[in-house]
Amino acid sequence: MTAPDARPVALRIRLPFATEEEFVERYGLNVARGGIFIATRAVKPMGTAIAFELVLQGGERLMRGEGTVQQVQEDETPGKSGMLVRFVRLDARSRALIDKILAVREGVVSPEAPATQASPPVPAPAPIGRGLKPAAALLADDVVLGIDLGTTTCRAAVWIDGAPQLIPLAGPTVFALPSLVALDDKGELRVGSAAKGVRAKRPEAAVTGLKRLLGQRARSKAVQQLQPRFPFKVVADPDGDAGAELAGRVWSLPELAALLLKEIKNSAQNMLERELKRAVLCVPAWYSDHQRGAVLEAGRLAGLDVLRILNEPSAVALAFGYGRGLARKRLLVYDLGGGTFDASVVEMTGDDLEVVSTGGDNFLGGIDFDERVADALAGTLPDPLRLRLEESRVSWERVRDAAEVAKIALSDQDTASVHLPFAVTDEGGAPVDLRATVTRAQIEQLTADLVERTCEVTRIVLEVGRVNAAALDEVLLVGGQSRAPLVRQRLQALLGRPPRTDVDPQGAVALGAAIFGHSLVQRERGKAGVSLSEVLSAPIGVAVKGGGFLRVLERNTRLPAEKTLTIPVTDRPVEVAVFQGTNPRADENEYLGALHARVDKPGELLLRFAVSADGRLEVEAVGRKGTASFSTADASDELRAHLYATAPLPGEAEAEAGGLFKGLKRLFGR
Ligand SMILES: Nc1ncnc2c1ncn2[C@@H]1O[C@H](COP(=O)(O)OP(=O)(O)OP(=O)(O)O)[C@@H](O)[C@H]1O
Ligand SMILES: [Mg+2]
Repeated sequence: MTAPDARPVALRIRLPFATEEEFVERYGLNVARGGIFIATRAVKPMGTAIAFELVLQGGERLMRGEGTVQQVQEDETPGKSGMLVRFVRLDARSRALIDKILAVREGVVSPEAPATQASPPVPAPAPIGRGLKPAAALLADDVVLGIDLGTTTCRAAVWIDGAPQLIPLAGPTVFALPSLVALDDKGELRVGSAAKGVRAKRPEAAVTGLKRLLGQRARSKAVQQLQPRFPFKVVADPDGDAGAELAGRVWSLPELAALLLKEIKNSAQNMLERELKRAVLCVPAWYSDHQRGAVLEAGRLAGLDVLRILNEPSAVALAFGYGRGLARKRLLVYDLGGGTFDASVVEMTGDDLEVVSTGGDNFLGGIDFDERVADALAGTLPDPLRLRLEESRVSWERVRDAAEVAKIALSDQDTASVHLPFAVTDEGGAPVDLRATVTRAQIEQLTADLVERTCEVTRIVLEVGRVNAAALDEVLLVGGQSRAPLVRQRLQALLGRPPRTDVDPQGAVALGAAIFGHSLVQRERGKAGVSLSEVLSAPIGVAVKGGGFLRVLERNTRLPAEKTLTIPVTDRPVEVAVFQGTNPRADENEYLGALHARVDKPGELLLRFAVSADGRLEVEAVGRKGTASFSTADASDELRAHLYATAPLPGEAEAEAGGLFKGLKRLFGR
């Protein structure tokens, strides 16, 4: 049904070498302790588990083991096609052969002839697994952790031995950590898989999908609407952001996210047997300034030195194109994950990356598909039973899990059977099973509008970037939910070309973050690195009287960016509330913060909005005539009440810089 359960694909590959010595000399550069580049035209898709056997020309076995396809290279040139396979298991003879190859390469044993390559210099993977010591990593001054904090699963990677490598997060072959934190009945917080047992029994004690709420104001419309869909109690934390109440105690979401990050940090430290501090953390391009701030806070609480917040689509582009010497390629990155959707057009020239336009939806992902299927499954029960099922958190979570399993199966097959024993109890207390058959056609009908929403965002991203679909060089499809055949079909129809399938849909973000981390280290050492230029994903502006939103910095402004505006001030205290989003109404957007000022003398004030390369905003106010002292802080309740209570003024929402002055005058009454 799903890849992890599949039996390994058996592959026997005959190499064009007569002896083991010839193999060691001519092919050794393609072998590392953790994996091998297998030159073959019969490449398998990324993530495929394979049981391989490499034999010499005469049929004598060289190596035998099992592994996973980590990277694929398809090329018409003879000898250039192949796949990078990470070892999961190797027999003793193969391990001894690898020792010999490494000894030759490191000069411990002299090769009889100079090494030449049988295939292109694809970086070979480094050792993976607890207890192994990748030599290069141990010698490196700095290893930067690349982290993908996903809505449903987290992944992490580091750059070792010349390539980015995913880190095993639960046992030697599991590279994903469920994004789950739960409070067990002893009052201890459990993380990842360990939290699953708690969630099964007490869903209200488990925090799932926290990425969707992280850095959102508790009183925002989005949170108010989403609240009932979370199994745990969503409350305001002491800063007014959405938090979680577990067993009567309020936890801030950065606090809980930090536990996931710590777990990842520990796994990476175990693997590399050294302390790690520095990290690149990825966020959806669509994340607001405040959400980015929350991620930074989570990193800090986890003891990480966050070198950079990197947008997920940029990370994907790096995972695809880094080191390939691309000649000005326009890539569309379509990332439909568990909880968020991002689409970006990225231009890549060599290792330089320029984001042309970006868009997305932080509330659109696989979880929404699961809900649709879960609703349909519940609908197969008679009404009284359906209602009972919907009222029980434990039952509903079980149905949702069953819906996800069926949904994933339907990406590979036409029908899926669901059997949930004791799904619900009837009025008399007798258990009732849920049995249903779901077809791919049904699931596609249930979720077609969600896929359409992603197509619409993609269309807008192309339009805003003034990019014709025909001018795209590649379409990269990532995020687990993008594996659904309907997504591929609709995107192909929209863009007129098949998307690439050789990018690891769930590992690309972490791999790209590790590449970026490596590049930062390279730069510190005075070497060339990635140059990355991002754009602002959503407008930033201020609230005006009547609840309107006046944009100061437009969407897709190249970063870093700065804009100033002058406002008149009287001797009355001044407050400017800053929001980010595309809605014409301020309170429909994300509230970022407010400037408060006590003005000593009437005059003019200059407001300076500066957004850094990674999308963090700073607002500063400077008195021009007269003096004013400002501080960035939360807006007062009176200001909010005033903003939220009044109706929008016609035309105000569309006002650009010229109208801003007028709008502010209205707000401040002059
Ligand atoms: N074969 C498949 N077909 C359809 N959906 C799938 C498949 N495999 C995984 N998914 C879905 O993909 C989602 C997880 O994808 P991914 O790991 O990319 O998300 P994430 O990184 O956790 O979330 P996000 O990027 O939104 O923060 C889940 O909703 C899962 O059900
Ligand atoms: Mg993701």
